[in-house]
Amino acid sequence: MWGDVNWSGGLSTLNSPMENAMVSLFKKHTSTHTPPTQSTHMTTMTTPTVIDLFCGIGGMTHGFVKEGFEVVAGIDNDETCRYAYESNNNSARFLLQGIEDVTGETLLSFYSQNDIKILVGCAPCQPFSKYSQGKPLSSKWSLLKEFGRLIESIQPDIVSMENVPGLVKHEIYDEFVALLKDNDYHTSKNIVYCPDYGIPQKRTRLVFLASKKGPIKLIDKTHTPDNYKTVRETIEVLPKIADGQTHREDRLHRAAELSELNKKRIRSTPEGGSWKDWNESLILDCHKKDSGKSYGSVYGRMKWDEPAPTMTTHCIGYGNGRFGHPEQNRAISFREAALFQTFPTSYKMFDSSESSPLKNLARHIGNAVPVELGQIIAKSIQKHLVEYYGE
Ligand SMILES: C[S@@+](CC[C@H](N)C(=O)[O-])C[C@H]1O[C@@H](n2cnc3c(N)ncnc32)[C@H](O)[C@@H]1O
Repeated sequence: MWGDVNWSGGLSTLNSPMENAMVSLFKKHTSTHTPPTQSTHMTTMTTPTVIDLFCGIGGMTHGFVKEGFEVVAGIDNDETCRYAYESNNNSARFLLQGIEDVTGETLLSFYSQNDIKILVGCAPCQPFSKYSQGKPLSSKWSLLKEFGRLIESIQPDIVSMENVPGLVKHEIYDEFVALLKDNDYHTSKNIVYCPDYGIPQKRTRLVFLASKKGPIKLIDKTHTPDNYKTVRETIEVLPKIADGQTHREDRLHRAAELSELNKKRIRSTPEGGSWKDWNESLILDCHKKDSGKSYGSVYGRMKWDEPAPTMTTHCIGYGNGRFGHPEQNRAISFREAALFQTFPTSYKMFDSSESSPLKNLARHIGNAVPVELGQIIAKSIQKHLVEYYGE
């Protein structure tokens, strides 16, 4: 059945000497975590153990889980993320709390005394994103400070902070880096273009890494423009659906219904095209003005042989960006968005016992760190662990 196709590359195959050494580092530990009681750990263990701040539905966490890490907790203030987070990530617990209310003691209660403490997080990026230009700064900026506060409080061995690249232009980023340096961390700033790592999406992200033990950096790129993973490789195999339709075997393969006017519009849009290809009668008044001409990709269709555009929280809406299917007359489905975010098809996204189970799904998927980006970060940390903690 098409739903069983293995969509997610081969990132979790461990086979280099470095990776094999990492396997033995992991095997030294038994998997007896039962946070927060800590009663079952032997004192000689040094298990690399992860807590994920701002965990959402677990894109980052799942990347670590796929690479063999023990993730003990994810923290987020949105209860609607709990089901997917806890249903897909072994025994990782979802803690419903605002990061501003989390104490160092809370975090330490999840780690065991001799764990290699790994703290990862992705403070909400909306205030920095270019889709928010011109809007007043929100209080969410301060969440990076809260991340820093928790680092200072528990002194984790390794930190990863993911965000939009624009963050580096802001004073709050400089303060965050200075705080880590003052606390004796080695740091690296990496601007990641996701296609360079085989992710089928033109997403660019800041991945900041820090370690107490020694220099830490992101692993080398795995792809070049001639073998970037494309829209075609990611979604062409899915069955055709019409706008407003849900595939009978996959509730996530569901496309938003289009108005009659938008049906005309998408039929007038070639692969890779946008509203700029329409005749005058279809064009919105706002796009006729000079100020609207810069929104070149809205009502756009994707190109088959390129990576997809960045998935957003509105990525299943035809008018919200270049989210039109390359040839079918509809926007992308939830399933297609999830595949561009490299979630495995087996990832349980919603609780079918809820009355409107898909209500928050586009937001959850668009907010997520691509699972394979989580894997790249996890692999980078594995490499560092072998270099600085391996035998
Ligand atoms: C960009 S998403 C994180 C995605 C997630 N790290 C992943 O890997 O899929 C940001 C998350 O921060 C959460 N959030 C926003 N404000 C928060 C706060 N004050 N405390 C905790 N979580 C918060 C949101 O609910 C959202 O799930």
